[in-house]
Amino acid sequence: MTADLPTDGLPNGGLRDRVLAALAGVTDPEIRKPITDLDMVAGVDVGDDGQVTVGIRLTIAGCPAAVRIERDVLEAAESAAGVGHATVEVSVMTREQRQALTERLRGGKVARGTQFTKDSLTRVYAVTSGKGGVGKSTITANLAVALAEQGLRVGIVDADVYGFSIPGLLGIAGVKPTQVGDMILPPIAYDVKVISIGMFVDDPSVAVAWRGPMLHRTIQQFLTDVYFGDLDVLLLDLPPGTGDVAISVGQLLPHADVIVVTTPQPAAADVAERSGVVARQTGQTLYGVIENMAGLPQPDGSVLNLFGSGGGAEVAARLSAGQDTPVPLLAQVPLSVSLRTGGDAGTPVVLADPGDPASVAIRTVAVRLATRSRGLSGLSLGITPAR
Ligand SMILES: Nc1ncnc2c1ncn2[C@@H]1O[C@H](COP(=O)(O)OP(=O)(O)OP(=O)(O)O)[C@@H](O)[C@H]1O
Ligand SMILES: [Mg+2]
Repeated sequence: MTADLPTDGLPNGGLRDRVLAALAGVTDPEIRKPITDLDMVAGVDVGDDGQVTVGIRLTIAGCPAAVRIERDVLEAAESAAGVGHATVEVSVMTREQRQALTERLRGGKVARGTQFTKDSLTRVYAVTSGKGGVGKSTITANLAVALAEQGLRVGIVDADVYGFSIPGLLGIAGVKPTQVGDMILPPIAYDVKVISIGMFVDDPSVAVAWRGPMLHRTIQQFLTDVYFGDLDVLLLDLPPGTGDVAISVGQLLPHADVIVVTTPQPAAADVAERSGVVARQTGQTLYGVIENMAGLPQPDGSVLNLFGSGGGAEVAARLSAGQDTPVPLLAQVPLSVSLRTGGDAGTPVVLADPGDPASVAIRTVAVRLATRSRGLSGLSLGITPAR
């Protein structure tokens, strides 16, 4: 044994502990937890010559994060053992080990249900609209990224099963989720965990005929089998209108807050109002209205109201009628070339062009959502107020 190796406890025990401590700093990029908490470290051996061998167990064979994990493990081990003094041996978890891991990640809960119950601290927002093409998905993607940028843990469920567009908007079209046993790990884009049916179809141009029960089961599975971990905010991008998906989301997440997106066109107010009313019928709360495609600022300083004006305020006023709490107009997001091109390129405008008026408007909504006290409203605290 070389003289400069630590001699506390077991021979080389100190070095082994230092390697383990360094490995605790390596996280699985998909699960976002330290590999030491995921039973992914199979062993750390220290030879008499101070040579360290770390065994790691990947969750599945061909794990897309394998190269990165192996590199991070080697770097961590070498930070403790010295460069050139560490090697990494890679294996794959057995079925039993994988099952133990998924159970642990689920918090040991045997009975599985949606992760986002009324008692979870995750705020759930369903983004809906009456008409199609008003910008729900674009706004959902940008809101999510803006929230993540503020340090919140954010997820998106693309509930537009037959018209999914979230993966493209976030630049992850074609990325497949990793599956660990019966648990699905959502791909991460701009720090947002994303799940979409688009990740499960091989050829997105092939139309799939979905009946109501299949749609329901798909959304249910997204809320059950996809491992989001602890989220601060979950956003759901709904298809337009008041069809099966809106009703399923209402049933599965009755405590969700709903954001209605509409255009400035007053004539569209009726349909937008309807989507809000249906959400309310399932017990959901209307959080607010976002008017999208509002006036386009012109070089001469004037504003071109391509889609008219006043639609957002109109919908907010109608949805507020007769309610104790008025439904606010959260923002007016102007027409924006940057917003459109950012969506087409998979780089959300709030990051690609933060000074664009559309980014500024979307960010005000994100700030409002982020500064809202976390999930305690509506929860039973088990105490009675003093009278
Ligand atoms: N403020 C805006 N300025 C310019 N273009 C916009 C704006 N908002 C959305 N768009 C564009 O309008 C189109 C429709 O947007 P998007 O797909 O987000 O709408 P949607 O409501 O989700 O549609 P669907 O009802 O089909 O799900 C996209 O091409 C998008 O880039
Ligand atoms: Mg959409």
